[in-house]
Amino acid sequence: ILPKIWYDEEKKGADDLMIPEKDWIKDLVVYQVYPRSFCDSNGDGIGDLPGVLQKLDYLEELGVNAIWLSPVYKSPNDDNGYDIAGYQEIMEEFGTMEDWERLRDDCHRRGMKLIMDLVVNHSSDEHPWFVESSSSRDNDKADYYIWHDPVNGKEPNNWASVFGGSAWEYVPARGQYYLHLFSKKQPDLNWACPALREEIFSMMEWWVDRGVDGFRVDAISYLDKPQDFPDSPLPPQPDGYSMFGSEIAGREGTHAYIRQMGERIFRKRNVFTVGEVSVASTQELLDYVASDRDEFDMAIPFVAPVVEIHTWSPRKMKEDIWEGYRLLKDCGWWARFLSNHDKPRQVSLYGDDKEHWEVSAKMLGMLLHTLPGTPFVYQGEELGMTDVRFDSIQDYDDPDAKNRYHQMLLEGASPEEALDQARLESRDNARTPMQWDASPNGGFTTGTPWLKVNPNYKIINAAAQQGDPHSILSCYKALIALRKAHPALSRGDLERFDLPQDQLFCYRRRYQGEELLVLHNFSGEDCPLPGGLIPSRGKALLSSYDREGGWRPGSTSLRPYESVIFQLSHP
Ligand code: NOJ
Ligand code: CA
Repeated sequence: ILPKIWYDEEKKGADDLMIPEKDWIKDLVVYQVYPRSFCDSNGDGIGDLPGVLQKLDYLEELGVNAIWLSPVYKSPNDDNGYDIAGYQEIMEEFGTMEDWERLRDDCHRRGMKLIMDLVVNHSSDEHPWFVESSSSRDNDKADYYIWHDPVNGKEPNNWASVFGGSAWEYVPARGQYYLHLFSKKQPDLNWACPALREEIFSMMEWWVDRGVDGFRVDAISYLDKPQDFPDSPLPPQPDGYSMFGSEIAGREGTHAYIRQMGERIFRKRNVFTVGEVSVASTQELLDYVASDRDEFDMAIPFVAPVVEIHTWSPRKMKEDIWEGYRLLKDCGWWARFLSNHDKPRQVSLYGDDKEHWEVSAKMLGMLLHTLPGTPFVYQGEELGMTDVRFDSIQDYDDPDAKNRYHQMLLEGASPEEALDQARLESRDNARTPMQWDASPNGGFTTGTPWLKVNPNYKIINAAAQQGDPHSILSCYKALIALRKAHPALSRGDLERFDLPQDQLFCYRRRYQGEELLVLHNFSGEDCPLPGGLIPSRGKALLSSYDREGGWRPGSTSLRPYESVIFQLSHP
């Protein structure tokens, strides 16, 4: 009745309970679908599961072999599904459990893994557990959430919610506050309660039994809370509350809970796991992914857009990549990503979404697919989709962006300044609907889209790029195919050339007699190559300038955002 978990086929006769070899995760190329914005099959303006199903041919042609679905569970959508009201039900707007099963079967038929988002730091306040828990102090679910008596008639401490305001909300029926690190419709679950943990573990098993191949585990660094709830030492924000930090993230108790998940589910069932973590350094990342920790296969570190936009530089990016490689090369693995639903569009942030749009989008793709680690492609990056500039704050949906807008007004900014900030930071930049073709609303819906489509859809869309061998989409297809054909990309070591030019990013990948050289110019200016790096042998496999004929043999410099992969020797 249940679909076979793929390793059953590969490891015939193996003892189910043994810890299976997990080398297969190195061959994944994961495509993240944000279902609300992917494809609307019934014209209600909201992307849905039948819509994803319709586009599996597109994904198969792209070459990806795993899909990560952002949450599709029952939810009132205060935070687009990251507020779950029923863990074993499908969101009505997205379809039915039968639709999900069809999607699962069709993915598996095509050899694609299906990875689900798992949001267990908090649920929705509309989850029946919370409804019961908040009704009195002595019900079956009384301890499923984090309740605290008022302190001096007020909130128990100064913690700010990530989305603004206090992290505590008062409930008269209990005469107590509950904790919500995110919006007040996302009450934090109480992991200290054994019965709650049991519910979560059996829910995870239920999904694995239904054929889920892996989990992307949301906001996982915050499970364990210090029971004395100390004030945050950080300065207050304009609304008077302070962001919490290391007093909550990455506590030893949280790691213990993750290891319990591992013991109960991940390792026994050979599921793929990627944790979304909040860390202050790469060293802290190790605590979640080093193989001897038995926690996650890999991790996605969360960096707030506001921080990333203002601190990012090619130099910092190089250093972070190198540092992450050095620390994990003998004891772990990397989730490689430049985009997701919480970040600005990568070509707008790291590349140039105007003059050098196409070459810079290709260069970023070439960086992503040639580094060690499992590449994650976020929907639309393979088309070079860009940030959007809405005319009014009303057009934005992201609660985070709206909160920042109001905080800025409180700080004395003008509405125009605050709107500009929202344009820069809003997570809606990544959430505008997929641009499938040049028809109204980019072919995403025949109705009115829940979030406006980026007006550039007439130029930037999948249909326009599908028939063009030199499009960004074609470059992504070539990259994914290269990765399959050249184990040096998925298995090779990384040897970096330490160069004084910040914008030059050059490295070698080597594996079993094959040697690849990768060069990127992370700037809009020509950049001379140091003598030793001018390729004098081998052949160029791919170039971001393929439209102009590719690599020019004999050249001694890279053009703006030029990126080239050379094969110097082969086995
Ligand atoms: C991280 C998710 O990626 C983000 O979209 C969400 O708002 C928070 N976690 C809360 O679940
Ligand atoms: Ca729909």
